[in-house]
Amino acid sequence: MIIPGLGNRFVGKEKFRMKSAVRCVLPLLAAILLVGAALPAMAETLRPLTPGEGAEVYRQQVEQMSTVECGKCHYEIFTLIRDKGGLHQLECRDCHNKYHTFTPGLAWKDRVPACNDCHEGVHEGNFPQCLSCHQQAHAPIVSLVAADKLAADCGRCHAQVSSAIQEHPSGHTEMGCTDCHHDRHGFKPGCNECHPEPHVAFQSNTECMKCHQPHTPLLIAFGDEVENQVCQGCHEKPTAVLAASKKGHAALKCVFCHAETHGNIPNCQQCHGNGPHNPELLKGFSGCLECHGDPHGLTLSGS
Ligand code: HEC
Ligand code: HEC
Ligand code: HEC
Ligand code: HEC
Ligand code: HEC
Ligand code: HEC
Ligand code: HEC
Ligand code: HEC
Ligand code: HEC
Ligand code: HEC
Ligand code: HEC
Ligand code: HEC
Repeated sequence: MIIPGLGNRFVGKEKFRMKSAVRCVLPLLAAILLVGAALPAMAETLRPLTPGEGAEVYRQQVEQMSTVECGKCHYEIFTLIRDKGGLHQLECRDCHNKYHTFTPGLAWKDRVPACNDCHEGVHEGNFPQCLSCHQQAHAPIVSLVAADKLAADCGRCHAQVSSAIQEHPSGHTEMGCTDCHHDRHGFKPGCNECHPEPHVAFQSNTECMKCHQPHTPLLIAFGDEVENQVCQGCHEKPTAVLAASKKGHAALKCVFCHAETHGNIPNCQQCHGNGPHNPELLKGFSGCLECHGDPHGLTLSGS
């Protein structure tokens, strides 16, 4: 339908709109007809006041802003979360369920989310000032303060480690946590950082930790895979004697007998009982070694 004087601007639009347009325009037309010649100019001036046209826009669906749309203005925050956000790579509105609340006098805490909205009881509730360590809400791990700023609190979060290191005195007990765990929280040093020429060829911490744990380095424990040459560096004599022997022990690993913990000494009976010997006969001797000599060589005394 084309209404004279308004051109064809409603053509193709939905029915209800035409209707409302017609409803509004008809009385106007009547008035215009009465005045005659002034017609085109007045229609032009009054058109923007047409109420139906303004209401139109509110009948559309409004999508809430997407994270990418927020990012168009808050570009630095968007890229920060993208590059360093870690597990905080959530949609902006997952956290900011309200924003742009420019109400005068509204406190900052009422404009932005609180950590505790989502993280209740973290760190046993001991550290309420979250942003004093996690300095940037959008990158909470990367923005952690440097290790030395945490030094006073290591033991409050790692109670097991700090009691282990105290209960087993060693050279490491004399050190501060951050002498090893320096620069940033969670950094783990290599043993060779401070022990450049260890008694065992350095391959990795894992090699050293087959025997030593970093917080209790003198509680030395090992598995049955340790090679004799590892012991050789400190125990040349028994290693040499064992290697030179032609007897049955020569084929054994040190740790087959000296098993599990350093310094462990087995006795003959735990593997052999009384051997082939009559217990009565043995009573006359101080022990197996009186005849069998050095356990590593097994050269019978007198032979
Ligand atoms: C994990 C929750 C979380 C996510 C996801 C998040 N924010 Fe925030 N945002 C916060 C918190 C908490 C604060 C308050 C930090 C403070 O008080 O310093 C904040 C502060 C802000 C601020 C004001 C302080 C500033 O750094 O400029 C803006 C702007 C902001 N966020 C925008 C965004 C945008 C944009 C996104 C998405 C690209 C986003 N945020 C994603 C939690 C979040
Ligand atoms: C058209 C640009 C624009 C878009 C899009 C935009 N913001 Fe903002 N935002 C601003 C401006 C400007 C400020 C005030 C100045 C400032 O703090 O940087 C602001 C401030 C904020 C603040 C500070 C706290 C507050 O409410 O006063 C937060 C939080 C925030 N915006 C979150 C968002 C989130 C979430 C989105 C997407 C859902 C978003 N903004 C989209 C421009 C924008
Ligand atoms: C709207 C919820 C929400 C808010 C608010 C929020 N977080 Fe988170 N945060 C999460 C979720 C979800 C994770 C993902 C890990 C999980 O499931 O616990 C997370 C993870 C984290 C992590 C581990 C991140 C990683 O990459 O390993 C830290 C640290 C953290 N949040 C600290 C904070 C701090 C500090 C604040 C306040 C400045 C805060 N969060 C606010 C939801 C939130
Ligand atoms: C004294 C410093 C400090 C304070 C204060 C602190 N944190 Fe942490 N937070 C840490 C450290 C260190 C980690 C370990 C980070 C890592 O995994 O490398 C951590 C890890 C986290 C994690 C991920 C691991 C977990 O335990 O779930 C979340 C979530 C977290 N903090 C939330 C918070 C919230 C929420 C607050 C405030 C209530 C807070 N933190 C206060 C130092 C702190
Ligand atoms: C607010 C609590 C908190 C404080 C303070 C804290 N840590 Fe942690 N730390 C954590 C959490 C949480 C983890 C992650 C634990 C996990 O993944 O099991 C962690 C992990 C670690 C790890 C292991 C990282 C890995 O990759 O396995 C080391 C090492 C560490 N912390 C050392 C320290 C040292 C040293 C200090 C003091 C300078 C310290 N922490 C202070 C909470 C804390
Ligand atoms: C002599 C160096 C050294 C000192 C001192 C030291 N650490 Fe460690 N720590 C290490 C090494 C190396 C590792 C890595 C172990 C691994 O890779 O399994 C480690 C691992 C850790 C871990 C993660 C694994 C675990 O055992 O839970 C935590 C937490 C930790 N240290 C906390 C501490 C704290 C707290 C202190 C101070 C009380 C401390 N460390 C002192 C060298 C040290
Ligand atoms: C940041 C330096 C540092 C790192 C890293 C380090 N140590 Fe040590 N360690 C020392 C110091 C200092 C001593 C005490 C002085 C000495 O005996 O040289 C020591 C002593 C020891 C001792 C003898 C303890 C005693 O009381 O006689 C052993 C064993 C040891 N370290 C093993 C290790 C192992 C295994 C690692 C790796 C997991 C390691 N260390 C990492 C500095 C370090
Ligand atoms: C097969 C077990 C074993 C392995 C693997 C091992 N150690 Fe040892 N380490 C020992 C024994 C046993 C001692 C002697 C302890 C004593 O004096 O009572 C020792 C002593 C030490 C000492 C004290 C100083 C010394 O030389 O007498 C340091 C430091 C040390 N080890 C560092 C390391 C490092 C670093 C590594 C890895 C490269 C490593 N150890 C691998 C068993 C081992
Ligand atoms: C870094 C040097 C070192 C290494 C490596 C080492 N030891 Fe020792 N070992 C010692 C020292 C030093 C003693 C003396 C400690 C003491 O008297 O407490 C000792 C003591 C012993 C003793 C006890 C001696 C006694 O009379 O009580 C046995 C058994 C022993 N070591 C076996 C081994 C075996 C097996 C290995 C290889 C898995 C090994 N050791 C590796 C240095 C080392
Ligand atoms: C068949 C088991 C057996 C094997 C294999 C063995 N030992 Fe022994 N070792 C013993 C016994 C038993 C003693 C105790 C001797 C005593 O009571 O005088 C001993 C004593 C020692 C002692 C302390 C006395 C001494 O002779 O210095 C050292 C150190 C030692 N062994 C190191 C080693 C090393 C290193 C190896 C590998 C090269 C090794 N042993 C292999 C059984 C064994
Ligand atoms: C951890 C176990 C173990 C211990 C402890 C042990 N032995 Fe043996 N012994 C063996 C094994 C295995 C053989 C080899 C058996 C075979 O060849 O049938 C052997 C062989 C022998 C033989 C025969 C050697 C030959 O070549 O004819 C004699 C003798 C002997 N042991 C004496 C002793 C004496 C003495 C002790 C104490 C000082 C001792 N053993 C400690 C495991 C052990
Ligand atoms: C009076 C000296 C003497 C005493 C004490 C003695 N042995 Fe023997 N043992 C011998 C002689 C001799 C042989 C045979 C020669 C050989 O096998 O080397 C022998 C052989 C053995 C054999 C090897 C048997 C075989 O089948 O080849 C074992 C195992 C053995 N003894 C274990 C022990 C044990 C364990 C003790 C301590 C409980 C012990 N002996 C005490 C003298 C002794």
